[in-house]
Amino acid sequence: MTAFAKRLARISASPTLQVAAEADRLRRAGFDVVDFSAGEPDFPTPAHVKQAGKAAIDANFTRYTVAAGIPELREAVCARYRADYGVNLTPSEVLITVGGKQALFNAALALLDPGDEVITHAPYWPTIPEQVKLMGATPVIVTTKSDDGFALSADAVVSAITPRTKAIILNSPSNPTGALIDEDTVAAIADAAAARGIWVIADLCYEQLIYDPVAHNLPKVLLSRHRSRTVLAGSASKAYAMTGWRCGWSIAPPDVTAAFNVIQGQSTSNITSITQKAAIAALNGPQDAVAEMLDEYRKRRDNIHAWLTAHPGIQCLKPRGAFYLFPNVSGLLQPGGLRTSAEFAQALIQREHVVVVPGEAFDAPGYVRISYATSMDRLREGATRILRFAESLCASQLS
Ligand SMILES: Cc1ncc(COP(=O)(O)O)c(C=O)c1O
Repeated sequence: MTAFAKRLARISASPTLQVAAEADRLRRAGFDVVDFSAGEPDFPTPAHVKQAGKAAIDANFTRYTVAAGIPELREAVCARYRADYGVNLTPSEVLITVGGKQALFNAALALLDPGDEVITHAPYWPTIPEQVKLMGATPVIVTTKSDDGFALSADAVVSAITPRTKAIILNSPSNPTGALIDEDTVAAIADAAAARGIWVIADLCYEQLIYDPVAHNLPKVLLSRHRSRTVLAGSASKAYAMTGWRCGWSIAPPDVTAAFNVIQGQSTSNITSITQKAAIAALNGPQDAVAEMLDEYRKRRDNIHAWLTAHPGIQCLKPRGAFYLFPNVSGLLQPGGLRTSAEFAQALIQREHVVVVPGEAFDAPGYVRISYATSMDRLREGATRILRFAESLCASQLS
């Protein structure tokens, strides 16, 4: 047996990537696969952003940069947050990372010790608890329910605090539910954390993808109440359709940012130099593309939601942010047939060639995640197949 480090036994591979591999296998076998598993925008990166990347190559901006990211980009993050949230940051509080994922990873590495507890909420994006486990810490899960709109209760989070609690990780808008955490809830959590010296790490990677004009200024709430122990993780991936460029950032106090910089300097160093120039264009340039993509996502959300919930076996809230629908399909499950949402997703791929991610991946059995970051035509086709599949399950329940 290969002698891997013990820490590897604590974590598992990304379930989303596993489903994507199955989709790929079917596609290569020649099937017309409708893939609702993607966690990324289907839009191209905006033209002016691509242009900035090309210009960086032509100008030979192709060498190492400082590990933290070039000052101009860290300034651009500060300027964006000033414009969007009215918060005043300095570049010493910003570190440029390989996507929001590395920002969260740096935070986990810098702040968590074996034996620590970290409170987060389910349904969750699996990377959050997996990173915690990789550090030898223990995720403590507060479960939110669809009956409450997947709303997170501050009381539930505070009740989960023990003397071993080191951090609380929040994700809003949420992947996979699209739920938002209210400002009041975040304020109450921040106050409780401040009183006990607990870190609050907020994954805001979908912060630009909120459909209704609701108050959701989590940077301001957190920085005004608990700045000395707050880490924000942001990303260019979803807002600017830049997943492959790999650009995110952390916002944290200068000493914490310096610690992240040490970790990054001894691991990946700077993110790609070319990407840094493109990200400056994204953050400083016109934001119209973000609004246009959001409008299109909204239309898709409304349609796929209406199409699927026309079936009585599919219950689903309308997501308030991100680009995922998270329907409850337990009405279509039964002891003698498909018993779990994992079996449901597997049968859906095999019979209808529609790929969804089973809720088990997000600690939410009975649900599936449908990404609507795909064209309206593919959404219509996929919905038709899912409804046909649902009908066939109902027919077999009756027979
Ligand atoms: C909730 C959440 N946070 C963070 C990320 C990180 O994305 P990236 O590393 O591309 O910024 C993702 C990506 O799917 C996500 O869903």
